[in-house]
Amino acid sequence: MNRKVRHMKRQWIIIAGVLTLTACSNDFLSGQQPPTSTPSAESQKKVDVKDQPVFETVTEEIGEDGLVIVGDPESVEVVVNKERKLPEGYIPPDLRVPDVSFSFDEDHPKKQMRAEAAGALERLFKAAEAQGIELVAASGYRSYERQKSIYERNVEVYGEEETNTFSAKPGTSEHQTGLAMDVTSAAMAFRLDQSFIDTPEGSWLADNAHQYGFVIRYPEGKTDITGYTYEPWHLRYVGKETAIEVYKQESTLEEFFGHHPS
Ligand code: DAL
Ligand code: ZN
Repeated sequence: MNRKVRHMKRQWIIIAGVLTLTACSNDFLSGQQPPTSTPSAESQKKVDVKDQPVFETVTEEIGEDGLVIVGDPESVEVVVNKERKLPEGYIPPDLRVPDVSFSFDEDHPKKQMRAEAAGALERLFKAAEAQGIELVAASGYRSYERQKSIYERNVEVYGEEETNTFSAKPGTSEHQTGLAMDVTSAAMAFRLDQSFIDTPEGSWLADNAHQYGFVIRYPEGKTDITGYTYEPWHLRYVGKETAIEVYKQESTLEEFFGHHPS
């Protein structure tokens, strides 16, 4: 696993649901064991307890469709992607509407985020505004059912193959976690388009989001890892420490949390 030294580490234990564990699952079982060697007296003296990794075991099951059912859906570090889905019926706790500008006026569940993420988004938008950058929120929380109708509509319009490059199947969207927000600007006419990165708002977001605990979840050139084309507008809250590390490493959540072999 390629997660770097952190204060909290996770060991992933996968339990097969209807499937038999395959050789590749061994990575999850053996890839990240707690250190077993005893440090010398001298090195013991030098080690600060707070710098030692703490191992937390997360048990995960595999569903009938072969996807891993994430064991920690409420963690701000949860990794949801084409291979890792949310448990059936999952609704995140503590959803609220962040006090930021939206691209539409009416009340809508998609204005919501988890409380911790909402607070961080407010700080991000305030910091941007102080520097003359006017960000606008477009789409946050989506229920399973809403993602299902969005995905199915996309399949009707674009076909399944193309849809799968930019739209998540229900149960596998980060928007269902309440930790994601799509961000745009008036200059973009509130559209979600890759040209956002060429605007002052998109560029500012790419350079600063990590300071507030967000990552640009689907970076350019990482489609083979994330499964999705570049989305400079899709922010994902992971917490400040993790976001800064992912940014510094020019990484993805798959690579950082060891859910990808690279
Ligand atoms: N656009 C992202 C991948 C989603 O549908 O969740
Ligand atoms: Zn999004």
